[in-house]
Amino acid sequence: MTLQDIYQKTIKFAAQKHTDKNQTIPGSNLPYVVHLSNVAMEILIAIEKSENFDGKFAVQVALLHDTLEDTDITFKELENEFGKPVADAVLALTKNSDLEKDQKMMDSLQRIKQQPKEVWAVKLADRITNLQRPPHFWTAEKIKKYKEEAIIILEELRGGNEYLEDRLKKKIQEYNN
Ligand code: NI
Repeated sequence: MTLQDIYQKTIKFAAQKHTDKNQTIPGSNLPYVVHLSNVAMEILIAIEKSENFDGKFAVQVALLHDTLEDTDITFKELENEFGKPVADAVLALTKNSDLEKDQKMMDSLQRIKQQPKEVWAVKLADRITNLQRPPHFWTAEKIKKYKEEAIIILEELRGGNEYLEDRLKKKIQEYNN
């Protein structure tokens, strides 16, 4: 399959799963697929800027990255539809709901670091995408914490993808200014 065909198949699948949960972008009534396509857009551009980068794998992981966390899909279903490497990658990007809130991100980052660099890239792209103007209902403290989290992501995933690390660095500098 071409990258374009993979993109179309995957975005339709992911959009349907999130739509079934009526999920929107926090602070807006936009469908969640807008977030997914923004993350995939970052990856599509990163493909051009990166060496030894499996774009087909990365685009699938980007579009599916929140399905295990936010929809009713199971790991098995994801594996059957997209294969084990993609399902494993999405699982690494999924917070473990059994953990305390303040441990979830670091736990996920440690699991991401055991995955191929494309998965690191998706995590970087996810946070780049999310460092837009914060939702209106966020407190100053929440905004500060979100920025601090982004700095941890950047530090932990150093060496993951030079281009996206630079993008995230700039987004952090601009955030909340
Ligand atoms: Ni996301």
